[in-house]
Amino acid sequence: MSKQAKGAAKAGKVIIGNWKMKKGLAESAALAKEMVEKFRDFNEDGKVVAICPTLVALTEVDKIVKKSNLKLGAQNVFWEDRGSYTGEVSPQMLIEAGCRYVIIGHSERRKYLLENYSMIHQKVREVLNAEGLVPVVCIGEENEDRKTDRRDFVLLNQLQQALGGIDISESQRIIVAYEPVWAIGSGTAIEPSEATYAHKIIRLALDDMFGMQAVEKSFQIIYGGSVTGKNVKSFSNLENMDGFLVGGASLDAEEFYKICKGI
Ligand code: PGA
Repeated sequence: MSKQAKGAAKAGKVIIGNWKMKKGLAESAALAKEMVEKFRDFNEDGKVVAICPTLVALTEVDKIVKKSNLKLGAQNVFWEDRGSYTGEVSPQMLIEAGCRYVIIGHSERRKYLLENYSMIHQKVREVLNAEGLVPVVCIGEENEDRKTDRRDFVLLNQLQQALGGIDISESQRIIVAYEPVWAIGSGTAIEPSEATYAHKIIRLALDDMFGMQAVEKSFQIIYGGSVTGKNVKSFSNLENMDGFLVGGASLDAEEFYKICKGI
């Protein structure tokens, strides 16, 4: 794990747009062009803004964002470098396509693709081994967990399953995205006080697992779940809040820009 990841020093706030399966190739290219225009003069406090279009649009969007203020990310990855894995894409292939970030273990993949703890763990491991790709590891409780006071346990367990036993070198970075499943796509974000609580739990758990210094240097904790240009301000100054993973609102250049300005 000694390879140097590009941009390895801990970055400023990071805002990642997850376009899910909502834009095809031509639509993604058009939206990327609009975003590049919108973000032309965006250069605030080392903030990093990345967009994650559908797989088939990655190379096209890469051409569009290459010389802009925007970075490229992918929504999924496989844990092997190469081989007979029909339909899958390796970390190196994503890097070749221009990606700097990759979302891992999104709750929609856990739900619809039956992605389990072991798969998520292997993906994180392989992505860290690849040069220049930062994993964005999603965790978050279901509403049922929250109502039955199991949230802390669920979060700690997901963190342990995804990251337990992984060594992190000085040059590597991991982004943990706290996404309460019940808030995703619901139109209602979590209360800021609940986000602060969850981010604190995550931070303490990471400190325990990796040591405070390593966490300070290499980890960022971001929030996802119905973030909009309107509610962004209520999250922006919270403790341990390093940015956002944005779904719906990242499909509108103006709205996404507002979010990126707002944090
Ligand atoms: P949302 O999605 O912003 O539409 O709630 C967030 C996500 O799924 O990452």
